[in-house]
Amino acid sequence: MSDWPQVPRFPDGFRWGAATAAYQIEGSLAADGRGASIWDDFPTTTGDTAATATDSYRRWREDIDLLDGLGANAYRFSVAWPRIQADGTGAPNPLGLDHYERFVDELCARGIDPAVTLYHWDLPQALEDAGGWLHRDTAERFAEYAGHVHARLGDRVKLWITHNEPFVHAAYGYTLGIHAPGKALLSGSFPAVHHLLLGHGLATAALRAQGATGIGITHNLAPVSPASDSPADQMAAARLDGWQNRVFCDPVLLGHYPDGLEDLFPGAAEVIRDGDLAVIGAPLDFLGVNYYNPHLVRASDASPLGFEFAEHEGVAHTSFGWPIVPAGLTDLLLQLRDRYDLPPVYITENGASFPDTLDDRDRVDYLAGHLTALRAAIDAGVDVRGYFCWSLLDNFEWAEGYAQRFGLVRVDFTTGERTPRDSYAFFRSLATR
Ligand code: FCB
Repeated sequence: MSDWPQVPRFPDGFRWGAATAAYQIEGSLAADGRGASIWDDFPTTTGDTAATATDSYRRWREDIDLLDGLGANAYRFSVAWPRIQADGTGAPNPLGLDHYERFVDELCARGIDPAVTLYHWDLPQALEDAGGWLHRDTAERFAEYAGHVHARLGDRVKLWITHNEPFVHAAYGYTLGIHAPGKALLSGSFPAVHHLLLGHGLATAALRAQGATGIGITHNLAPVSPASDSPADQMAAARLDGWQNRVFCDPVLLGHYPDGLEDLFPGAAEVIRDGDLAVIGAPLDFLGVNYYNPHLVRASDASPLGFEFAEHEGVAHTSFGWPIVPAGLTDLLLQLRDRYDLPPVYITENGASFPDTLDDRDRVDYLAGHLTALRAAIDAGVDVRGYFCWSLLDNFEWAEGYAQRFGLVRVDFTTGERTPRDSYAFFRSLATR
């Protein structure tokens, strides 16, 4: 289409892909010996369940056809831990590994590089029953699981992402209780934070010991600004920046937690053992960045967190109510460059939910704006190697069920039928030029 927005060109070798997560698309929750996960019985606001989702455990060949048609040269998907170890421990389940091996082989046959997320929030329920991420042992179990996946797929997987968004998993699942496993521990949730990061470090060591390269972690990051220049609002902004960005980036990129950790999580120091930060801070091959929107915050005595979100005035919002601020992506990447000695970066998620139409010009404009902002960061010297759109397909959006549609491809959740939207053709025009 000729009236598509202009997007600058990207460097040769740039990876263009889409992203999904096992629990959000696979369905078939009892197939081939899969064990229960913490999400299986977690209530959604819509009453929806992921029992079928996009049926991708069975319709995976169609998904690969769609990736091929999209012009993707990479695909970010996750492996479901409960399919590899039903209870999160012990010998791996060959049927689960077989499934992902068939999938990876077909991706490779089409020239699509597999980028595997090892943990996208679907903890085996048996491990949760033993304490979940609050329990240090879960980090050890995670490293063993990572080794099993690598032993089968390691010669074909190009990028390994240990964790997806440990901030969101810890904050929603263990601090606020709005995601599985539904614990609202507030400042008592630090053990989950630390053990997720330790799990990243131990898994990285296990993968490297088996010869893996291309290891990273994906964080959900956001530039944070105060709603006013009052000292209280500035402190509120620093508090969220500390919690979401620094608590998760500093340990992996600097090898220590930020100042102020004890203000956010009193007693944190008792959880951290000697040597942990050296494990967590082992060099990364890349940093995965998920960017959706910046935050504007003000101080609030009413909130147990000490801050609340303020509205971004004068900008459009997605169906989820998230402000659309492409420049925030440039700001974020420049901030990361200034704070850290950054490894290569992949944008491992960026995208938006919009009303369920096939002519999704709103999504086309969202992508064009964010890719242009990404290119500006590259021009300013940030080494960005690829971009994965969230998401290939409409899917199960966690606590929101099927209410939020993020797909380049529309899914009919009754029949499973997939229909590419205009944004799919637009993305293809960029990925294949
Ligand atoms: C991210 C998650 C992903 C999806 C998008 C919309 O936080 O990683 O699974 O839910 O948000």
